[in-house]
Amino acid sequence: MKRTRIAELFRRNETDIEVLVKGWVKTKRQSKKVAFLAVNDGSTLHDLQCVLDVSLFDEEQLKLITTGASVAISGLLVPSQGQGQAIELQVRKIELYGPAPADTYPLQKKEHSLEFLRENAHLRFRTNTFGAVNRIRGAVAYAIHHFFRERGFIYLHTPIITGSDCEGAGQMFQVTSLNLERLPRTETGQVDYNLDFFEKPTHLTVSGQLSAELAALALGEVYTFGPTFRAENSNTTRHLAEFWMIEPEMAFYELEDNMDLATDLLKYLIGFTLEQQADDVAFLCERYDNSLVDRLRHTLTSDFVRLDYSEAVEILTESKRNFEFPVGWGMDLQSEHERYLVEEHFGRPVIVYNYPKDIKAFYMRLNDDERTVRAMDILFPGIGEIVGGSQREERLDVLERRIHELGLPHANYWWYLDTRRFGTAPHSGFGLGFERLLLFLTGMSNIRDVIPFPRTPGNAEF
Ligand code: 4AD
Ligand code: MG
Repeated sequence: MKRTRIAELFRRNETDIEVLVKGWVKTKRQSKKVAFLAVNDGSTLHDLQCVLDVSLFDEEQLKLITTGASVAISGLLVPSQGQGQAIELQVRKIELYGPAPADTYPLQKKEHSLEFLRENAHLRFRTNTFGAVNRIRGAVAYAIHHFFRERGFIYLHTPIITGSDCEGAGQMFQVTSLNLERLPRTETGQVDYNLDFFEKPTHLTVSGQLSAELAALALGEVYTFGPTFRAENSNTTRHLAEFWMIEPEMAFYELEDNMDLATDLLKYLIGFTLEQQADDVAFLCERYDNSLVDRLRHTLTSDFVRLDYSEAVEILTESKRNFEFPVGWGMDLQSEHERYLVEEHFGRPVIVYNYPKDIKAFYMRLNDDERTVRAMDILFPGIGEIVGGSQREERLDVLERRIHELGLPHANYWWYLDTRRFGTAPHSGFGLGFERLLLFLTGMSNIRDVIPFPRTPGNAEF
């Protein structure tokens, strides 16, 4: 007999058919006559209740079938006698693939702390929580591709190893094939990168944007969706050293078009999640964050505020709040400021734009005031910055001046500048942090819980 996934059985909701399921035992209850196994195969949050007539099975074998064991079970699907499920399986045959001895299997309790599960990240997929989170993660990744494909965007693969530093922040992981114990030196004592793999220093990329710009200025609308890396030592619930970013880049888009697209994307993904992953969202809402569903619905239907940075500073100043970081024109918004604007002042997402040039990257288009750039950050409740983007500086002379002002190595950007030399055009793009989005969609509060294998300072075990 062919195996059927449990989600499929629930979807079809047929009874009086013989089926074969394979999965892992979540719980087992046993009396003298009957045993109940809750079996889960990852395809859905819901376990299949399997009922065994104890007298028909080998006692020693039954003893080995405990929480965590993997099994193949066949039998007759019948309407359930008990509460809580429509169908259950009357077990005819059971095969044990792998036991999970109760005295050593770590996941014995019904609920474990998220901290404990982080320390057991290799097993946490087996919990309802991480099943739900990872099903949502996979589904939303699909929805992102669907959204862009429907709009005619081309999915572009940008390099992970790079010779340039997109954000100019200088907090990158270096990639080298040199022996760190015995570095080759030049006569003047510098590391001799001519002997390194790429014959120059290289790093893991912080963003695919610069490469995406090259493609957008020929293909029109493109997007990347891949891992990015930052070696900043921020041990917060919002930062990862390795995270995934969605980066669309569009020729002929101005800042307002960019905001429209980002808003459409976010709303589409929220709607998709509420609709397609309703069970998982409902579970997370009940377990971790009672306001999750309401917040998702509210965000879906609310207009995102568009707020000039200078106005944002005014609102913050007038709030008379005692912020830890004092408010003043020119400062970067701290998360306390972002949360005040989004959660208290407006009560909905806010897009802040026209930031001071000194706190933003070199590639953002300079405004006529020469003090601000066409940047935009989208701020979400409970998250803070979820999207960062801008209209790009398409004027060669202005861009060269910015690179010079910021003391960036001009020679590293010759290929980028070529796009402004030949057929330059207005264009825009943004980066959506995939894990920040997932924090919002799942109601989880620590970013380490929405990526299967988190990379944070001092942590790369699994
Ligand atoms: O604002 P950022 O740094 O923008 C860029 O990298 C641009 N090159 C994107 C573009 O215009 N194509 O990062 C974009 C988003 C942030 O808004 C945030 O959601 C997420 O990436 N992000 C992080 N997520 C997790 N951990 C980190 N350390 C993150 N740093 C940024
Ligand atoms: Mg940013």
